[in-house]
Formats: sequence, structure tokens, C-alpha cells
Amino acid sequence: MAKQKTAFVCQECGYDSPAYLGKCPECGNWNSFKEVRLGSAGSSFSPSSPLQEIPQPQAFAFTKASDGVRVKSGFTEMDMVLGGGFVAGSVTLIAGDPGIGKSTLLLQLCLSLAQQGRKVLYVSAEESVEQVSMRASRIGSRQEDPNLFLLSITDTDAIVTTMQESKPDFVVIDSVQTVDSPNAGGFAGAVSQIRYATTQFVRVAKILRIPLIIVGHVTKEGMVAGPMVLSHMVDTVLFLEGEKFTTTRILRSLKNRFGPVDEVGVFLMEEKGMVEVKNPEQIFLANAKQNAPGSVLVVILEGTRPFLIEIQALVAYSKFPMPRRVAAGVDSRRVELLLAVLQKHCNIQLDSSDVFVNIAGGMRVSDPACDIGICLAIWSSLKNVVLTKIVSMGEVGLLGELRKVSQAEKRVREATKLGFSHVITAEKYKTVREVLQSLGGSEKGKSWQQTDKKRDKMSKENE
Ligand code: TYD
Ligand code: MG
Repeated sequence: MAKQKTAFVCQECGYDSPAYLGKCPECGNWNSFKEVRLGSAGSSFSPSSPLQEIPQPQAFAFTKASDGVRVKSGFTEMDMVLGGGFVAGSVTLIAGDPGIGKSTLLLQLCLSLAQQGRKVLYVSAEESVEQVSMRASRIGSRQEDPNLFLLSITDTDAIVTTMQESKPDFVVIDSVQTVDSPNAGGFAGAVSQIRYATTQFVRVAKILRIPLIIVGHVTKEGMVAGPMVLSHMVDTVLFLEGEKFTTTRILRSLKNRFGPVDEVGVFLMEEKGMVEVKNPEQIFLANAKQNAPGSVLVVILEGTRPFLIEIQALVAYSKFPMPRRVAAGVDSRRVELLLAVLQKHCNIQLDSSDVFVNIAGGMRVSDPACDIGICLAIWSSLKNVVLTKIVSMGEVGLLGELRKVSQAEKRVREATKLGFSHVITAEKYKTVREVLQSLGGSEKGKSWQQTDKKRDKMSKENE
């Protein structure tokens, strides 16, 4: 009997080697190699397979630009993230934490496409047909839809065969970590299985020219399991993000062969499924009108879209020698850097204060335009000054200078549209200190350090 061929595959990035390696030369992870059985020459890869129609080369002038024909999802937020809808034959990966709402959003998408008269196939390798139907009725679908076909199956090859035979107009496979095939080694979820399944799905989608969506779960580290393997193989990678205990969900494109990247769509996870949010301000600024100190508005840019968000900060007396710095929605190292800038260039002492910074509404931001907003929110909480009528934007440098942000005019227009006339920008102010002084930071020449000491004394007395 011929010896079974095996290989060692890194479970983090999919790198394969004929021998066991302690450290992966591709991704640098230790002890990530597992031995997998190689398939029997991968029967469905054979050139005799009916799928393997060899296309004829076409003269450039006669090649149709089929990108123009896009399948609209019925959700404007999703179409915008995709760059105008799904392209025929494109493969989209939707990744996100378990329970964030991927299956719900995709089932709604399938129902919407089925109502447009398209033949839709929803393959669930995680739930039974009854469970998917129950979810459909929860999100308020009609009892029957002759265009929507549900399939509960985990066999990769059977899914491919079904797609070939039934030739649907749109396919969703939920999820790539739960399908498997005897032609690939390891259990469902192993990199070899994910790689095999994705290759098969991509191939069939391209040949039949069907838009296909693959769902991928995210590991604790925030990566799609088998990450690099998957993102290289698909055309588009979308992430569905959100905090567990808030209802806000952000759909973000990280890679898009047919449209913009870093574009975001905003949804709310409600009792009856996902609801599009066309004016994100309505959730991000829900409580900003409370006139409380520690709240500052900033215009950020996500992709091409300006958003007004609320940055909140709380500065409180700390008994500990190492006070806490806690940040949610922004990078905590950035907050520490800004605290150092405030201390060094604006003479604001925060050594005996805990500092908490949060982006209201559960959004996560990395736009450097938030820097000045974070500084102002911290200052506002420290000094008990209300700053709600002001919108700010600007990157803060290590020298305490305010730097210009990209597409400033677009951002200012957004703030003006929402009724804010006082916008703090790098065009108007050169340094953070200048901004604080203009807001009354250097009242009557009093040293802020003195005020801080007085405040600390008061806090101690209150305890
Ligand atoms: P789900 O779509 O199953 O998440 P994923 O596929 O990303 O793992 O969503 C599950 C969560 O969503 C669950 O906690 C219940 C909640 N949910 C709603 O709040 N409203 C709804 O209409 C539905 C269907 C689910
Ligand atoms: Mg799911």
C-alpha cells in the first residue's frame, strides 16, 4: 500500500513544510505546526472535472467591463461599503467575533435579495434549517419565500456540487471554520481545511459568476482564524465590529478589489435584526447634549465619510502611586502620549489622577484627528468646564503642536451642517496650549498646577 503523504502546516498562517518546525518562518509563531494528511491528489482539482472549463482569451477591446453590473443588497450601508454592491463572481469574507450578528445580517441580506426575485442559497454549517427559519421569522420575514433556499450541511465538496447543480444567483456560506472535507487533512477549522474549502468556493464562484459570501470567525487576538490564508484568497474582506454590550455594529472594509477600503457602514442590532443607521450622529451623539464636563465632539473621517463623534473623559483623584489610564475605543498608548504632552507643554499635572477615556456609542477610532479632542476632554473633566458647543479636530505632535488633518474642509462642512459654528482646527491654532488658552485655560494668570493642588486637597477632604 502506498505510504500516506503528510505535511506540517502552521495553524496560524498556513505556511507548510515537509518537516516539523518549532517556529514558523512566515509568521514567527512558536509551536504552531500540526501534521496534516495530504488529500489524494485533490480529486476536485483534476483537469477532467466538469468545472474546469478552459476560457478562451479575449481581445481587450471585446472584454466586457462587467464591474458595472453590481448586485445591490437592498442595504444602502452595505452597498456603500462594497463600493456599489456585489460584483458577479466576487468572493467576500465577512469576519467578526462570534455572536456579533454576522448570521443575522446575512440572513436579512438573503431575504432582501430573494424579494428582488434572485435565487439565493444560504448554506449554514452551524445551524439546522429549522433554526435558520426561526431566525428568519424573528427578523420579520414572510413565512415562505420561494427564492430563498436553505441548506444545513458541513461537507465542502457537497456544497460545491449543490452550487454547480442549482446555479443560484447569490450564495452565503456560514461559516468557513465549520465546513470540512475528506480531501483535506485535519478537522474543521484547521488551516488546511479552511484553505481547501476557500479554494473550492472561490473557484466555483468565479466559474459560475455568482457573488459569494463566506463567514469567518475571529480568534481572541482579533484575527480571522487562518487569517492570511483567507484574506489573500478572497476579493473583499469586511469586518463586523461592535462592543458586546452595545447595539452599535460597524461594518468596515479592510480589503476590496472592487471598491474603496476603510469605508464604514453603521447598523444597530435590535430585537428584530440589524437596522441601518443613515445618520450615525443620532447614535454617537445621543447624550452629548447633557452639558456635562468631559465631553468633546470631534469630526473623524472613516473612508470617505465624515462622522461626528463624542469623546468622553473622566479625571478623578487617585489614591494609588500609579494612577490608572483606561481607554475604550481609542489606543491607550495614544492617550498616555497625549497626557505626557499635556503635562510637558501645557503644565497640566495628572500624576495623582486616574484618567478614563471613552468613545461614546461603542465606536473604535484610529483617526489622529481625535488627538485634540482627547486632550480637550481630559482638560474639560479636570477643570469642570463644559465644551459641548465646540467641535475639534487635529493631530497633536510630541512638541505640543497641532497638525493639519486630511480633508479638513469636508470635516468642517459636516460640523457646520449639524449646526456647530465653532470648529477648532490646526488652521486656527498652532499649539494645544493656544487652544486651551482660548478656552479660558489660563484664567487670571493662575497656575494650573496650583488649581490642581487645591482640587486634590478638596477631593481628599471630601473622602
Ligand atoms: P448572530 O447573527 O447569530 O451572530 P454571529 O453569526 O456573528 O455569531 O447573532 C447572535 C446575537 O444576536 C444573539 O446574541 C442574539 C442577537 N440577536 C438580536 O439581538 N436580534 C435579532 O433579531 C437576532 C436574530 C439576534
Ligand atoms: Mg453565526
